[in-house]
Amino acid sequence: MSKKTVLTGITTTGIPHIGNYLGAISPAIQASEDPAFNSFFFLADYHALIKCHDPERVAQSTRAIAATWLALGLDTDKATFYRQTDIHEIPELAWILTCMTSKGLMNRAHAYKASVDANRDAGNEDLDDGVTMGLFSYPILMAADILMFNADIIPVGKDQIQHIEMARDIAARINHHYEPLLNLPEAKVDEQTQLIPGLDGRKMSKSYDNTIPLFSDSDTLYSLIKQIKTDSKGPGEPKDPDTSTLFQLYNCFATPSDAHAMREKFINGIAWGDAKRELFEYIDQHLTAPRQRYIELMQDMAFVESELQKGAIKAREFAAPLLDRMRIAVGIRPLTYVAPAREKMPVKKEVSEEALERAEAGRKRAVLMQVQPLIDGVKAAENPRQAAVELIQQKEIEVEGLKKKARQKAQNELDVLRDELTQWLV
Ligand code: TRP
Repeated sequence: MSKKTVLTGITTTGIPHIGNYLGAISPAIQASEDPAFNSFFFLADYHALIKCHDPERVAQSTRAIAATWLALGLDTDKATFYRQTDIHEIPELAWILTCMTSKGLMNRAHAYKASVDANRDAGNEDLDDGVTMGLFSYPILMAADILMFNADIIPVGKDQIQHIEMARDIAARINHHYEPLLNLPEAKVDEQTQLIPGLDGRKMSKSYDNTIPLFSDSDTLYSLIKQIKTDSKGPGEPKDPDTSTLFQLYNCFATPSDAHAMREKFINGIAWGDAKRELFEYIDQHLTAPRQRYIELMQDMAFVESELQKGAIKAREFAAPLLDRMRIAVGIRPLTYVAPAREKMPVKKEVSEEALERAEAGRKRAVLMQVQPLIDGVKAAENPRQAAVELIQQKEIEVEGLKKKARQKAQNELDVLRDELTQWLV
């Protein structure tokens, strides 16, 4: 079983807010701790240029987003964390994809259609008014971001699902016409995290101007929380936690038992002012340590830059060979290139079924001798089930990390272990 690759990008036009934190950043960082996945997270700064032509804003947002992810504890040895523009292979791939993408597909993209609709509604004769080619072909750049790393799972907001489907379409077309080089990605939308309310109760979003910046200082945080909409119920009157923005935000940060206690307070008629103060105190103490780290990192851009460079090296180790294969596949080749001769199938001697079985059994016995001490360890463990699962996981990770030859050997061992321990693994 090979590891699945999870990949997501963050457009560098804004400063992270609490909705981004709860809805995207925190779940992504948590997922990257899981050894069953390879995580790729990147700053989508080429995407920023599509909607923002203010250089200072793009540059400042890039700094802030990079520092935020690091301040929140992203482990750059586990996840690959990089800046899109450091991976030159991405725009190159984007061009190859562009040449295989029909214009009709792009005509259907939501972001483009929204601009056309706005022009139509405004009575503008030029329906493409204000549409750059960047906006128009943006789904292709996004497809390149994803296909460049053969990503499997793309955690995104609902508005991005269409783009992932387009990436699949484009990949399938390339695979069909040239060679099956590209993996077909899938969107993953977490309904739960789509529901972070902002100051006015609508989804927290820059476009509604209802956000709470993640690392605002305590005073700003409190004054924003005081602005959260409530109804006119007075102190002592029972309040419905499920329709309250204050409670919902509290719930997003709180442990289940703290959330339960706050729910009780609502039902018992906590005053809105007190609820706001408690929400503020809860969030503030949750964010104190990462906020401090963020402030330090914002003053140490050399370090943040070096983290991104480290990520770029890792990312390019994957991207460069894929682009090489892609270029060869489409015919962009050194002039001296000669296609490798297809390996001749060796003419197999007829071997009897029985002889094959004997050979296979012999091979398995040899591997079994190697791994017997591990199996004995599991059998002797207090909790053999857990020991078996852990051993298999460990072995899977080992297999993953090895080069071809060593990998085959470790894979054989893994197979035998799975067979021998199957009673504890089902
Ligand atoms: N377009 C995405 C957004 O606005 C950001 C993005 C760019 C992205 N490239 C990506 C997300 C690749 C996932 C995968 O949110």
